[in-house]
Amino acid sequence: MTTAAIEGFAPAKVNLTLHVTGQRADGYHLLDSLVMFADVGDRVTVARAEQMSLTVTGPRAAGVPEDARNLCWKAAEAFGAPVAITLDKHLPAAAGIGGGSSDAAAVLRAMEELFGRPSGVDPLTLGADVPVCLLGRAARMQGIGGAVTPLDMPSLRAILVNPGVEVSTPAVFKALARRDNAPMPAVPDAAAQARDVLDWLAQQRNDLEPPAAALRPEIGQVLRALSSLDGARLVRMSGSGATCFALFDPDSPTDGMARDLQAAFPQWWVAETMLS
Ligand code: C5P
Repeated sequence: MTTAAIEGFAPAKVNLTLHVTGQRADGYHLLDSLVMFADVGDRVTVARAEQMSLTVTGPRAAGVPEDARNLCWKAAEAFGAPVAITLDKHLPAAAGIGGGSSDAAAVLRAMEELFGRPSGVDPLTLGADVPVCLLGRAARMQGIGGAVTPLDMPSLRAILVNPGVEVSTPAVFKALARRDNAPMPAVPDAAAQARDVLDWLAQQRNDLEPPAAALRPEIGQVLRALSSLDGARLVRMSGSGATCFALFDPDSPTDGMARDLQAAFPQWWVAETMLS
């Protein structure tokens, strides 16, 4: 029997807010985060196979493991069937935009289609960002990542920048000054316009930004460069970094800004995107 390979998109995840509100006895932190997804990302192709294999291609393939260390491989193993996976890598790794988690979620979705059954996998066992990536749309993420509530949000125009330095998530959590910060207030309702959402977001935080910026001075440099862009309404770091984003009013022109930034900082990863 031949079954066509299934292709899936693995979008970048952006934490527009990330409040750290507590810590469990096992060390994991309690989070309260508003997450949206970009229209840039990786692609996975999954086909039935006699044995597991993973091939990584694309502009960001260098250094990405092609074995059981890769979350794609772990996701397929948890699903419980051997598949041949091709991962076309466009997102930087260890970057705070959930690349590996989104890849794993895309593999689970593709395998559900390929084998015609639910995965039966608890996505939280693969990583704290995998449940929200499996949903793949705007959501509030709480608990240690497993409590995901979909949100109706207007699309937001953004520029994402990663300075090309990897950040260790455990090291950033460890360097937090406080772990008992205030949760988010009520999130914007479904009728909120982009401008209302931007005003609301400006009152929120990423509690991981100060410790990450202390560990990686490049983060401050990126935040300053984004803040200097015409029309940037909000500048913040995503996840545990080092990727940062600027948000713009919906009708604010960003033409050429990403290109100019890329030209000024050739070693940076720069992407202009709509978040949804
Ligand atoms: O689940 P994931 O593999 O993405 O988490 C990476 C690390 O981030 C964990 O090992 C832990 O140190 C830290 N983490 C945390 N609390 C969370 C999520 C992650 O402390 N809710």
